[in-house]
Amino acid sequence: MTNGPGLSRRDFLHASGAAGIVAMLASSGLLGACTQQQLQDFLNRIHNRPVRKDIATLSPTDPVIQSFKRAVQAMKALDPSDRRNWTNQATIHNDFCPHHNWLLLPWHRAYLWYFEEICRELSGDNNFALPYWNWTANPTIPAVFFDPASSLYDANRDKGPSDTISAGYVGTSVINGILGETNFLNFASGPIDVNADQRTSNYQSPLEATPHNNVHTFIGGDMGTFMSPLDAVFWTHHGRVDELWVEWNIIRGNANSSDGAWASRHFTEFCDRHGNPVDVTVFATVLMPFFNYRYDTQTP
Ligand code: C2O
Repeated sequence: MTNGPGLSRRDFLHASGAAGIVAMLASSGLLGACTQQQLQDFLNRIHNRPVRKDIATLSPTDPVIQSFKRAVQAMKALDPSDRRNWTNQATIHNDFCPHHNWLLLPWHRAYLWYFEEICRELSGDNNFALPYWNWTANPTIPAVFFDPASSLYDANRDKGPSDTISAGYVGTSVINGILGETNFLNFASGPIDVNADQRTSNYQSPLEATPHNNVHTFIGGDMGTFMSPLDAVFWTHHGRVDELWVEWNIIRGNANSSDGAWASRHFTEFCDRHGNPVDVTVFATVLMPFFNYRYDTQTP
């Protein structure tokens, strides 16, 4: 999605809520170039975009879980020359993930989105959306990750199905404190220069330092390393982190950074559903929960 005539990046970054985006598109005259039918199809596609669901609401036989298992199994079986291969996907994280700075949230959002696309392709389920793990409501690792016969299993974990993460890391009062922060930099971690290496360290926000880091170290094994996406729990853990960004930005209407040094960053290390390299900007990731997917906590 690119900027249309009459729309500035600022407009998008400051529009809060889907209603705001649609009103802005309408007033821009941009939609006047479409036929009624094209406009209707476009709006229907957005309205019906895949929904990321809380994994606690899904039974083990739910089609979402079945598709997730099928996709991961297929990724594990792919040739190492294919960028979509399971280990290659984790290596992208190992080699490029930014932490301790304001690229944390957009980078992991883009990473999950392209992974989700690969899952659609390899599961054959084109409506597939990644489930997320709400560790605030359910502070134990979801049961589906403990079936040794499943592709979602990882033998290399320190914790079992009944171990509980401390409320001091993921509990309601900690999360409410994080969501109550109104300054983007304090919510999303600190700024780095436009030309700085994307792994430059600045400030770690409480969102990053408290629930994010501690869920990784609590699970341990692969999750305690930069190869953490080798454990399928990773994708549902980061789904929750992304869902909290949606809650903060879209549902509560807090503004993301309006600094071009943030919005204009490009990431070129991901690949699309066919394994081809892509180029994605931070700005594009801001729009993803409006156009590409939504959480079950968002209205369509
Ligand atoms: Cu880049 Cu939670 O890891």
